[in-house]
Amino acid sequence: MLITVIPAVASGGLVEKPLQLRSTGRTLSPGTKFSLPAQQAHLDPDNYPNPNVFDGYRFCDPQSGACDIRGTITPSAKWLIFGIGTSACPARLLATRISQTLFVKVIRNYDLRLKVEDGQPEVVYSAANMFVNFNTKMYVKSASI
Ligand code: HEM
Repeated sequence: MLITVIPAVASGGLVEKPLQLRSTGRTLSPGTKFSLPAQQAHLDPDNYPNPNVFDGYRFCDPQSGACDIRGTITPSAKWLIFGIGTSACPARLLATRISQTLFVKVIRNYDLRLKVEDGQPEVVYSAANMFVNFNTKMYVKSASI
């Protein structure tokens, strides 16, 4: 899977005055709420091949083999986790580096194994977000033992 916890939407807005969408010609009236279809974009195989299969090298440059962070911090129509446009998250590089650091600390210091029957934890929805079921159990062991 591309990422295990997937917000269905990213960003959100409220139309204050009539807004015509150039792409469709449709006009959104004041009071319309909108958001970005992050989940659809991130799980679209045209954007990311085999989106439901974990690929640790997904964001690596195939030529050099080096991790290319631009793929995860550059807002685009296919990468919406940090929003897009002028209001895109200004801390996306910081947030990505913090996430990477925490992830590495966890996998270096602990042996982790999910306690699930079929290898995939149940997914639950809360508002517009997908989460791993909070009751999912996990075996955790210090890697130094
Ligand atoms: C993985 C972690 C994070 C995610 C997924 C995330 C995602 C987002 C998203 C989707 C938006 C809205 C963009 C829009 O409206 O188009 C946003 C806005 C914002 N984020 Fe983050 N964010 C993260 C971490 C952070 C951190 C660590 C900070 C501060 C240190 C931060 C500061 C902000 C600020 C100030 C805005 C408002 C920008 C504006 O309205 O102009 N974010 N973020």
